[in-house]
Formats: sequence, C-alpha cells, structure tokens
Amino acid sequence: MQIRFASTRPAGDHALVIPVAGPDRAALGAFGAGLDAALRRQRFEGEAGGAAEHFLADDNGRRLLVVGLGANAKPADAAEKLGGKIVERLLTSGETNAVLDLTGLGFDADSAARVALAATLRSWRHDRYRTKLKEKQKPTLGSLTIVGAPAEAEARWTARYAPLAAGVELTRELVAEPANIIYPESFVARCRASMEGLGIEFDVLGEKEMADLGMGALLGVSQGSVRDAQLLVMRWNGGEPGGTPVCFVGKGVTFDTGGISIKPAAGMESMKWDMGGAGAVAGAMKAIAGRKAKANVVGICGLVENMPDGNAQRPGDVVTSMNGQTIEVINTDAEGRLVLCDALTWAQANVKPATIIDLATLTGAMVVALGHEMGGMFANDDTLAGQLDAAGKASGDKLWRMPLGEAYDRLIDSPIADIKNVGPREAGSITAAQFLARFIDEGVRWAHLDIAGMAWSDKASSTYDKGATGFGARLLDQYVSDVVEKA
Ligand code: BES
Ligand code: MN
Ligand code: ZN
Repeated sequence: MQIRFASTRPAGDHALVIPVAGPDRAALGAFGAGLDAALRRQRFEGEAGGAAEHFLADDNGRRLLVVGLGANAKPADAAEKLGGKIVERLLTSGETNAVLDLTGLGFDADSAARVALAATLRSWRHDRYRTKLKEKQKPTLGSLTIVGAPAEAEARWTARYAPLAAGVELTRELVAEPANIIYPESFVARCRASMEGLGIEFDVLGEKEMADLGMGALLGVSQGSVRDAQLLVMRWNGGEPGGTPVCFVGKGVTFDTGGISIKPAAGMESMKWDMGGAGAVAGAMKAIAGRKAKANVVGICGLVENMPDGNAQRPGDVVTSMNGQTIEVINTDAEGRLVLCDALTWAQANVKPATIIDLATLTGAMVVALGHEMGGMFANDDTLAGQLDAAGKASGDKLWRMPLGEAYDRLIDSPIADIKNVGPREAGSITAAQFLARFIDEGVRWAHLDIAGMAWSDKASSTYDKGATGFGARLLDQYVSDVVEKA
C-alpha cells in the first residue's frame, strides 16, 4: 500500500477518514445532520477501537469512515490503532484510495508517521498460493494519504518507519512460507534477494565448514534431513569503523517434526514457523540497514530442518558442541537449544560482541506461561533486561522477564555427559534458557527471548492480520535505535 502525505485533501475518488476523540464531534461539523443519526444508529460513541460509516449523498456517495480515538486519547497511544482500523475496514472494501484527515487532532510527526506504519503493516497478506480468491476477497485499497500532519511526518515515515515495515514484512514472509519452500538454503537465498543493495555483508557456512569447526550440536539436529544446514551471518557496519558490534542470533528450524522424538500429527504443520527467531533477526537487519542505522550489528541465523530418518540422531546420543561441551540428547524435539548453542559459540568466537541477544520459538512451556501476549525474556544483566523491556513497550513487541538461577541449572546435569538437552517437565522454558546460559562466555551480556507464543497469531491486531506477526523484528530495531545508536 502506498503512503502519501499532503497538506490538503486531494481531489479524486477516495474514502474519507475522520478520527474523533470520544464525544467530541468538532471534526465532523461540516458533514450535516444526517451523519449524527447515522453514527447513533451504529452505536458509535467515538470510543477507541470503534468505527462507523456514512455515505455522503451530495458527493458521489463518497464513503466517510469515522474512527474513534477514545476521549482524551493521546495521539501517541491512538496512532497505531487508527492506522490498523482504517485498513481493517477498507482493505477489501472496494475503495482504492483513502484520505485520512488529522487536522486539529494534535498529532505530532512521529504519531502521524506511526499511523502510516500500522496501516502498512496491517495491510500485509500472504496470498501467494491462493489462486482462487474471489474478486471480492482481494484487497482494493492501494493508497493512504494523510492530511493535516506536521511537515516532518513524511520524513519520519520515510527515514524510520518505511524501512521498518519492509523489515517486518520480510520476517512475516519467511515465517508464513511453508517448509517445502523455505528450508535452510532457500532461507538464505530469500534474505539475500530481499536485502540486496542495502549494504549488508553476507557470509554463509555450510555443513562442511560447520563440521570443520566442530559444531556437532547443530549438525546433530540436521543429520536426519536431506536439506543442508546453514549458518547465515549478516553484518551491518553503520557505526564507528571497528566498533564492537551487537549480535543477534535466531533459531531457524525451518521445520520441526521433533525428529525421532516425533511430535503428534495434530498441529504439526505450525512447526513451519519454528524459524521465527531467525526470521526476526533477518527482518531486523533489513530494517536497520534500510534506515542506515548508525550502529554495528551482526545478525546470525542457525538454519536447520529437524527430521526423523534412518540417519537421524537418536534419543540418548551424545554430541559435542563447538566449544567442546558434551551433550546428551535425551529428546530430539528439544532441538532449538542444540542449534542455538553452536550459533552462540560461533558468534562469541568470531564477532566478540559485548552484548548478544538470541530469539527463538524455543518451548511450548513459554506459551503455557505467557500465552500469546508477551515473549519471555531471560537475561544475565539487569541493564540489558531493562533496555529490552523498554524497547518491548515502545515497539509493542512486549516482553516479560523470567528467572535464571543455579537451582534451575542443576536440572540439566547429565549422568553421562556435561549437560543434557532437557530437564524435567516443570520450568521447561527456564531450563531451556539455562542450557543456553552454559554457552555464554564470562563477561558477555546476554538475553534470550523465547517467542514461541508470539511468532504466529490466530487473531488479528492493529498491526497484523491472522498469521505471521513479525514479532521481534520491530523490537530489535527499537533496541538498536534507543540503545545502540545512542551509546
Ligand atoms: N519448536 C518447539 C517449541 C514450540 C512449541 C514452539 C509450540 C511453538 C509452539 C521446540 O523445538 C520444542 O519442541 N520444544 C519442546 C521441548 C521439550 C521436548 C523439552 C516442547 O516445548 O515441548
Ligand atoms: Mn522441537
Ligand atoms: Zn523447535
């Protein structure tokens, strides 16, 4: 969808969108008495999340969409709901253009630009394989023009939020694609194509290179798959030359059958999005590079497919990780931590970051704990935890901090190796995080974000329709903007 900013309402066919703050109808004064009755009939009270329609008799039947902001709503809080609501109502309505008039509502530039962001994000769909969509089901809305915003709003949109939307859309695309289309090598290819020309350096390690480095934990997961595992490294050098980069690491299990510890059939198809952490890292890199962030950032994706096979690893196998730890693989379905531990080791050995943040759809237990409202955050550093919490609130990708501790760590001691890959049933997300913690070097600030409940949604929000949410990309972009670029 195309976004435009204009100083006056353009001529030509469009639906007109007027926001109102609760009972304050000042913005509607010009539309006559019929409108009042129409709003009343629709039980519209200007409440946040409310919307009503009216067709103007004297203007070719032009559609007027009135969107509620809530009484005394601050533009900063109302902006994204407004953008999302416009698209929810108009995307497949038959209207091809919408004009939003913010005159007199006190929107600052950032809030006005975030209306555009939410509208753009909410309009994203994955229709690639829907060849039989009826005309009426297809999106019609091609442009949104925002009128009455401060002059700086357009620059804010172009410089900050349009690149972010492109990044989030890449995350969603990677997450939504089925696993016969997106597997480790095609994930890399899709990223390369999507980020071409942005100035990101790509490096890819295949199975041979990873074997030479001793990445036995990651490769153990991959050995039941005919697909080649990949370690994708994306470097954005927008900060001081030679400055220590921050490092993002994503779990990229392009399909998780569970391996020999195979998952039940019901719902297994959802494990195509078990690469949501890697997808978030890729989308964040695209956003950060797209807006030429003044930061050095390295994004790493551990990409494998977890399949059962004659060559698959067995429960009870012992593998050796890149940093020399032996791991008893009790359950081949606890594969994400096996992928991440070697990716984290590689990152620390090669990038030498002071701060490392990993994202993973790691445990079903995380979904049990937090549902689909927040991602779980585990951190070895209170400052980093506070910064991520703030980035979560500012971006809408919300996080809730979870504990780490020695008593949990003991639960993954193995009788036969240094560590086992699962603990008891209880505290399953925490023991998964403790597993990763054993691979973090002394002095490295680290956070692990378990986004199992967040990568996919069965219901729409202001910024996404049902399906892939893009969770994590915006969070990381916000963290870079608020913390890394300010440092
Ligand atoms: N990818 C899953 C976790 C998951 C489950 C993500 C549901 C999203 C929704 C992960 O690889 C997994 O299978 N974890 C196991 C760990 C267990 C075997 C210790 C789980 O959570 O059941
Ligand atoms: Mn699994
Ligand atoms: Zn998994």
